[in-house]
Amino acid sequence: MSTLVIGGAGYIGAHVVRLLLERGEDVVVVDDLSTGAADRVGAATLVELDVAGDGAQTSLERVMSERAVTSVIHFAARKQVGESVARPAWYYQQNVGGLANVLAAMENAGVRNMIFSSSAAVYGMPPVELVGEDVECRPINPYGETKLVGEWLLADCGRAWGLRWTALRYFNVAGAGWPDLGDPAVLNLVPMVLDRLERGDRPKIFGDDYPTPDGTCIRDYIHVLDLAQAHLAAMDHLTSDAEPTEHVFNVGTGTGASVKEVVDEIGRASGLDVTAEVEARRAGDPPQLVAAADRIGEVLSWKAEHGLTDIIRSAWEAWQAGPRRIG
Ligand SMILES: NC(=O)c1ccc[n+]([C@@H]2O[C@H](COP(=O)([O-])OP(=O)(O)OC[C@H]3O[C@@H](n4cnc5c(N)ncnc54)[C@H](O)[C@@H]3O)[C@@H](O)[C@H]2O)c1
Repeated sequence: MSTLVIGGAGYIGAHVVRLLLERGEDVVVVDDLSTGAADRVGAATLVELDVAGDGAQTSLERVMSERAVTSVIHFAARKQVGESVARPAWYYQQNVGGLANVLAAMENAGVRNMIFSSSAAVYGMPPVELVGEDVECRPINPYGETKLVGEWLLADCGRAWGLRWTALRYFNVAGAGWPDLGDPAVLNLVPMVLDRLERGDRPKIFGDDYPTPDGTCIRDYIHVLDLAQAHLAAMDHLTSDAEPTEHVFNVGTGTGASVKEVVDEIGRASGLDVTAEVEARRAGDPPQLVAAADRIGEVLSWKAEHGLTDIIRSAWEAWQAGPRRIG
């Protein structure tokens, strides 16, 4: 019996793969290595495959039956908001089409358990201080839409053929569980600041006139290792429950940190001058997006163990262990 981790060579997936291997599970990774790297999957078997490509369903079915897969964790997706605005049809092909191929293969191979990487992007700009799972989802870009449609598709498969599924809506993921598994992309705040510092530039803050205590946007930062642990808790819960089941959980801490606080924390961890340049607000950035994280605590007994200081320290150590070491 094995667990299939699709997108397991990526930033978050590689953490989950390592935790599964550490507890002795048989793990197969399917990844096209478009943004992932083969050396991140350790001793897991790696099958190089584009799940949104021609013939993917048949190849996936073969992997599932040959490796006696019982559960799937699906990370593979494109995740750049701006790119999704520019290329919406491609985002639907990749994120929804890829997921549809995986689910069709699961149905044919008789695999019934799925954990899905969803996102706080499904909420859009909710008019509440703490965002609970039952807030109306109104995504404001195609990326967020593909995640919401993904959740609907899972629910449809649950009704049609008994898929048992959990969608985890991640808030702002950062940090590294191990120094070799840092975030390789420069898309989120922490790597963006480190990227600027490595180039000898000042960090950028987009807007300091938001209605927040220090004027910068507030987000809920979750340590990638805590997030990875949430996947194991979700999988254990899903597979121990005999009934058809579906769950949607926020994965966050319930506490926000402002952009300025994050930048200052990077200054403390690195000892570098992080005096920032303030630029105009970016379109579509809500002033505050913080999870109500009670449901996952109540149902899975999971809660985040690491706060902002741990997150930033681990991100800094991982950056310094990589090819773009500063100083
Ligand atoms: N990083 C975040 O802050 C964040 C926040 C919310 C949700 N998410 C979601 O979490 C998931 C993982 O994100 P990540 O940060 O680890 O990204 P990542 O880009 O590091 O990982 C994605 C992995 O999937 C692989 N992949 C992409 N498309 C594929 C395809 N068509 N076929 C096979 N493999 C494919 C990539 O090569 C990569 O290894 C994504 O679904 C993303 O939307 C991430």
